[in-house]
Amino acid sequence: MRKVVLVSSLIVVFVLFFEAYRENVGDEWRYYQKRYKEELKKLATNDQEKQLANNYEIKMRQIVLPELNRVDRCISCHVGIEDSRMGDAQQPLTVHPGDILEIHELDTIGCTVCHDGQGRAITAKEAHAVGIPYWEKPMLFQPFLQSNCFRCHNMDELPQLMKFHEGKKIFFSNGCLGCHKLEGKGGQLAPDLTNVADANIHLKHPVNEDLIRQFHKNFNIAYIYESVKNPKAQPEVTAMPSFNFSEEEVEALTVFLKSLSARAVPASYLAQKRGGHQSEDVQGEALFRKYCVACHGIDAKGGVKNINYVKRTVPALNTLAERMFLAEPEDANKAAELLEKGVDITNMSPELDVPNRGRFLAQYRAIRNVIEKGSIAGKEDSKGPEPLLHMPSWAEGLTRKDIDSIISYLIKLYPWGEKKSEENNE
Ligand code: HEC
Ligand code: HEC
Ligand code: HEC
Ligand code: HEC
Ligand code: HEC
Repeated sequence: MRKVVLVSSLIVVFVLFFEAYRENVGDEWRYYQKRYKEELKKLATNDQEKQLANNYEIKMRQIVLPELNRVDRCISCHVGIEDSRMGDAQQPLTVHPGDILEIHELDTIGCTVCHDGQGRAITAKEAHAVGIPYWEKPMLFQPFLQSNCFRCHNMDELPQLMKFHEGKKIFFSNGCLGCHKLEGKGGQLAPDLTNVADANIHLKHPVNEDLIRQFHKNFNIAYIYESVKNPKAQPEVTAMPSFNFSEEEVEALTVFLKSLSARAVPASYLAQKRGGHQSEDVQGEALFRKYCVACHGIDAKGGVKNINYVKRTVPALNTLAERMFLAEPEDANKAAELLEKGVDITNMSPELDVPNRGRFLAQYRAIRNVIEKGSIAGKEDSKGPEPLLHMPSWAEGLTRKDIDSIISYLIKLYPWGEKKSEENNE
């Protein structure tokens, strides 16, 4: 009997001790809230403020966001986040930098929709989720905080997010969509990038350890960065070219790519669009840079190597005018302008007035046909490896008008001046 009493009182003592420990130091958030309470007492200048400070309750604090399917407890530790007097305090007690929480209402938005991290967690390690490889969305560090604004904003209305916009521009002018797809548009040779910022994309390849450290153990960001910076570092890399981007360019591209994931917010959360809607660039040159330049080269000059391909390099497209029997600049301009305007040159009246009209139209149809249907690059050595680059089919991704305006751009690229001086030299 004495033994039983002894054991049970030991248990009681232990439980009391454990509770006391938990109350005081065990729960990180209690500790921070106590520190905040001390700060409030020190800051109090009159009786009313003193009373408020004394009454400050130590308790679990959270923002419940049913529409976003989130519960964010970050404010259990980041208690001073809206308290402008906490400017000089240390994390996690300090006030939020900038005016972003004045523009957005904390009660309706929470923290993780911008910051990522694990909203429900109550230890710093788990809440920030840094270094937990399989946690979907570890907390973002700068400059990647720009990557989540897209969830609710039309990014064109936030031009101040410079890294994002620089990356977007690089993405759309270097032919990434010649091989990749984005929201249904683009080539067929490479993985769809529509959700590349989602969780486990990095599991495809092991990622360089140094990069994982550089990006605060965000495996997804390290993977995206490495895919662009140094595709050859990845064992299975095939057709993905090595672009000679600078460090800043790769970082900007990564900020943009990190925004390619589901919005995951209901319409009521979207910032109202002001101004006109976004229209897609339909000019031939912009379309060429978006979809074709990575394979057909800058200014369509060709020269991009293609392993074991009969012609060795992907064909240049800046001499289409000649192939289309447009022998004079005036004729080429006439045809190019009609195509740019969207006129159906195969069926117009009066008929298109260029010499060799029949042969011109036959070539035009043949070129459209290759662009719409695509073409498999033939092998030079029939026993050798498959060439990496094939002409993709664009029938689904590009409209008839888009294709005409690209052909128009290509016709205008013909180097008339150089040809004339070559003739003179003869
Ligand atoms: C259990 C307490 C706790 C919780 C919960 C918590 N944090 Fe923190 N947070 C801290 C502490 C302590 C620091 C400072 C030390 C550090 O960086 O780990 C900090 C730092 C930060 C920083 C600055 C990081 C840096 O180094 O620049 C950000 C941003 C942040 N937290 C966001 C969040 C978000 C978002 C959540 C909710 C998903 C959250 N925190 C939840 C305790 C917490
Ligand atoms: C609308 C988006 C948005 C929301 C919501 C938001 N933040 Fe931030 N947060 C930002 C941005 C952007 C920055 C960087 C601002 C800057 O550097 O001027 C930032 C910076 C911070 C920092 C400082 C990081 C550092 O390196 O010093 C902390 C800490 C932080 N946020 C915590 C929170 C917490 C906690 C919440 C929720 C209570 C929250 N934020 C809600 C966008 C947001
Ligand atoms: C969960 C949705 C949501 C997220 C995420 C979000 N915002 Fe907003 N933001 C809004 C809403 C709603 C408004 C109110 C705008 C309106 O409709 O007038 C707003 C307004 C603004 C405004 C002022 C109005 C304007 O358009 O000039 C700025 C600036 C802004 N947000 C910047 C940001 C930045 C930067 C980020 C990313 C760090 C961000 N927002 C993330 C929803 C969001
Ligand atoms: C993934 C690389 C790749 C992309 C992207 C690509 N092409 Fe091609 N293209 C090729 C290859 C390789 C050939 C040669 C195929 C062959 O030999 O049959 C080719 C052939 C062509 C031809 C026929 C050239 C000739 O000499 O017969 C045209 C026209 C053409 N491409 C236009 C385009 C246009 C317009 C775009 C963008 C909308 C585009 N290509 C995007 C790889 C590509
Ligand atoms: C000539 C075709 C081609 C072009 C052009 C191209 N890529 Fe790729 N890319 C690939 C292929 C193929 C892979 C798959 C590599 C592998 O795993 O073998 C890839 C992989 C990637 C990945 C990893 C995606 C994933 O799901 O694993 C990213 C990110 C990426 N590319 C970004 C870009 C960007 C940004 C550009 C433009 C600057 C670009 N790519 C241009 C062919 C291309």
